[in-house]
Amino acid sequence: MAKKLLEINGVSKIFRVGGILRGKKLVAVDDVTLSIDSDKPVILSIVGESGCGKSTLCKMVLRLHNPDMGEIILDGNNYADKKSYDPHQFKLDVQPIFQNPYESFSARKTVDTYLYNTALRLGIAKSRAEADKLVDEALKSVGMSLEVVKGKYPTQFSGGELQRVSIARALITRPKLIIADEPVAAIDASMKMNIVNLFKDLRDKYKISFIYITHDLSTAYYVSDYIATLYRGCLIEYGPAKEIMDQPAHPYTELLMSSVPRVGDKWDKELAMPDMEGKEYSISYCKFAPRCPYATDKCRQARPEPTKLGDERMVLCYHPLNSKEGK
Ligand SMILES: Nc1ncnc2c1ncn2[C@@H]1O[C@H](COP(=O)(O)OP(=O)(O)OP(=O)(O)O)[C@@H](O)[C@H]1O
Ligand SMILES: [Mg+2]
Repeated sequence: MAKKLLEINGVSKIFRVGGILRGKKLVAVDDVTLSIDSDKPVILSIVGESGCGKSTLCKMVLRLHNPDMGEIILDGNNYADKKSYDPHQFKLDVQPIFQNPYESFSARKTVDTYLYNTALRLGIAKSRAEADKLVDEALKSVGMSLEVVKGKYPTQFSGGELQRVSIARALITRPKLIIADEPVAAIDASMKMNIVNLFKDLRDKYKISFIYITHDLSTAYYVSDYIATLYRGCLIEYGPAKEIMDQPAHPYTELLMSSVPRVGDKWDKELAMPDMEGKEYSISYCKFAPRCPYATDKCRQARPEPTKLGDERMVLCYHPLNSKEGK
């Protein structure tokens, strides 16, 4: 079996919302299993409408939330095993990139301060001269340079430029995995492709895998090796991006893909889903059944088990589309 960089095994996250007495449980991430191989760096896009659990899942991979069930294993080290978990190594191996680059940098500090801090505080550079070299190399990998960036404040950059600086900062630790939560959502449409193209370059040049969370159909189509679709916390479809985009197996993925890909389009807008119902997060049968055009009695009785479709594809549906098991 291929060695794994990341294993997410049956992971769930439950939030208690509302007061202590009348509060409800919200299953934000519901028994998700996913993995990324070590030997082949990939861009895995996580897609799905607002509130489906994308950020919560990634926060667990970033160790910002603990899973309530299941386990997460990075490079063979289980997060729950305090002996094998080295916090310093973790900071080097896994780097986050957030949605709004202006929030990642303080307006009162020059942006190069952050790059130097990463290089020096994490012990990657032993001297200022070494840090100069590392910072410049990282900036050059994203099409910038220390000469251009030095001494400048965040507001002196466009959103796209500043996002490239935050990617450069992430590169300094030579990560194995970058988790980018909607990294182009706050960026000008004309610059979105520029950023996602960079992910592809970095995957190939530095063998970094990416988890790319997005609402943006066109960039996901363009950049992904694999796609994972979440619906109300459940992983309802997973597989090679092209196969999923061309022939979705889950009716919800089909609905997502039916929107026309244009840079900057958001699924939410086009799907016009009704408001989230807390109870839909916790129903014990197929969560998509209440709005699925193909739902049968079976779908309203019990949750489907993950069904394999070929070597690399999985769907959580009793009646997958475009397959012999379908209608
Ligand atoms: N700290 C928290 N406490 C309580 N509920 C939370 C918390 N964080 C997230 N949730 C809830 O969990 C669900 C999943 O949220 P999450 O932020 O993971 O969704 P998302 O897919 O990232 O959405 P978006 O596309 O809007 O960023 C939502 O219903 C959200 O309100
Ligand atoms: Mg989110």
